[in-house]
Amino acid sequence: MARPSASRRTAVVWEVLRGALDQRVKTDGKEALDVLDTGGGTGNLAVPVAELGHRVTVVDPSPNALFGLERRAAEAGVEDRIRGVQGDAHGLFEVVERGGFDVVLCHGVLEYVDDPAEGLGNVVAALRPEGGTLSLLAAGIGGAVLGRALAGHFTEARQALTGPDGRWGESDPMPRRFTVEQLTGLVDATGLDVTAVHGVRVFADLVPGALVDTEPDAEEALVRLESAASELPAFQAVASRLHVLAEARYHDR
Ligand SMILES: C[S@@+](CC[C@H](N)C(=O)[O-])C[C@H]1O[C@@H](n2cnc3c(N)ncnc32)[C@H](O)[C@@H]1O
Repeated sequence: MARPSASRRTAVVWEVLRGALDQRVKTDGKEALDVLDTGGGTGNLAVPVAELGHRVTVVDPSPNALFGLERRAAEAGVEDRIRGVQGDAHGLFEVVERGGFDVVLCHGVLEYVDDPAEGLGNVVAALRPEGGTLSLLAAGIGGAVLGRALAGHFTEARQALTGPDGRWGESDPMPRRFTVEQLTGLVDATGLDVTAVHGVRVFADLVPGALVDTEPDAEEALVRLESAASELPAFQAVASRLHVLAEARYHDR
């Protein structure tokens, strides 16, 4: 089975998520997990997760994204294991069952929701009361600061660094970014235990594509560098994306 596309940008997340799914299979003693992908879009993750044999429900407000998801699931031959439902993080339990999932994914969504604490609280409440795993991915402030500065946009870099939402200006398409502390603080507030933090796309968004695409083995070397840097707080602080894994355990729910 192929890794999700654009592996230099996604390899770290995919390896961490795949490990977490394997661990949950062992802990729960199930062959197939029920996975909720909130804001799962066209299935960048949902399709490869279904290819591992799990049952995935994608909730997304965009009918176009759900249409794309249906097509990709059919192409991958996993349409029987993927269900797309129109809905959003705030009205989650109008469309899916509270406490019905072993694993919940929330990737690239907290940047857009009206209220990140409430949205994440709903996502976590979709986990089974007896335990489950959260995989959370969101944009990091440090990566945006570095990206704008290295492109010569120093005022925008300072704005992202000092402004309230980590945005570099009015034309910034990202509504909100997070520091590691802000993101893990949101997870802590749901009552889950944070088990791992990874910095994602530390270098991949800064390196000119030509340097990677024309050099033999450069892609693989970059993926290995991203992996080595991802666990170090110094590099997490400047990562373009932040990934947090967290667990709900029976005793604390
Ligand atoms: C950046 S894309 C991420 C897609 C996918 N999770 C991934 O990692 O490739 C953001 C997705 O969040 C969805 N979205 C926007 N607002 C949302 C909300 N309030 N609740 C759930 N999903 C939302 C969008 O429709 C879009 O599909």
